Amino acid sequence: MQNFKLDRGIARLALLQRIELSGTFLKKLRKIFGRYIFSAFVSKYLINPNEISKNYFNLMKKEFSLIDKYIKHNNKILSIGSGIGGLEILIHKKFNNHITFIEKNYISKKVRYGWDIKNKEAYNSLKLLEKFLINNGFESKMFNLFDFDNDKLPQEKFDIIISLYSLDYHYNFNLYKDYLDKVMKSESILIIDTIRPDFFKTIFKKVEVIKQDIDTVHKSKRIICKNQ
Ligand SMILES: C[S@@+](CC[C@H](N)C(=O)[O-])C[C@H]1O[C@@H](n2cnc3c(N)ncnc32)[C@H](O)[C@@H]1O
Repeated sequence: MQNFKLDRGIARLALLQRIELSGTFLKKLRKIFGRYIFSAFVSKYLINPNEISKNYFNLMKKEFSLIDKYIKHNNKILSIGSGIGGLEILIHKKFNNHITFIEKNYISKKVRYGWDIKNKEAYNSLKLLEKFLINNGFESKMFNLFDFDNDKLPQEKFDIIISLYSLDYHYNFNLYKDYLDKVMKSESILIIDTIRPDFFKTIFKKVEVIKQDIDTVHKSKRIICKNQ
């Protein structure tokens, strides 16, 4: 696979989910016009989908190379806040696993990249997420999509739970704590980005830092949490 197939609507979502995909031109427009106009207008009409596709693909390849070694064939994977799901496509291509997605199904009017106490912010459309997965070779029988706000969440056990720049990055881990207690086995692993890795040492037996973002405002760490 050399690149992702993605249309303008999906490229827009990728940009809202991963602001680092904007080049100098879009960054300047965001500074001049502010976050509201950026989300409502700039991200819709002034983007170059091919460029976003190339940059998003390279970014997801990098993310994949960091977690690749923790995944095995037949692992059942749960992705919380996948965005448009590029990382999950790469995982599925290599390991052919079934992947369950939990996401939100709306796009906030203004992109805010901070701690979202009430968990009101979201940048996704389940319809576009499904379209992106299928257009990039992910057969529909190999994935399930759940709307966090409106669906009963899946109750089976998962081997790997992935939530990059979502759980405990934008919203509190407590929101999912009881749910994760139910769907994690003793050998399951959780992969998240957080600014408070030590907090997770009080919950899991082992917490390993595999990446540090020192140049960003949040200065988060990517951690692998396990109980074995
Ligand atoms: C910054 S984006 C990260 C997307 C993707 N994981 C990535 O690394 O590119 C955060 C994502 O979390 C989603 N989100 C927000 N609240 C959520 C919740 N309670 N459950 C699942 N997803 C959520 C947003 O819609 C958004 O797609």
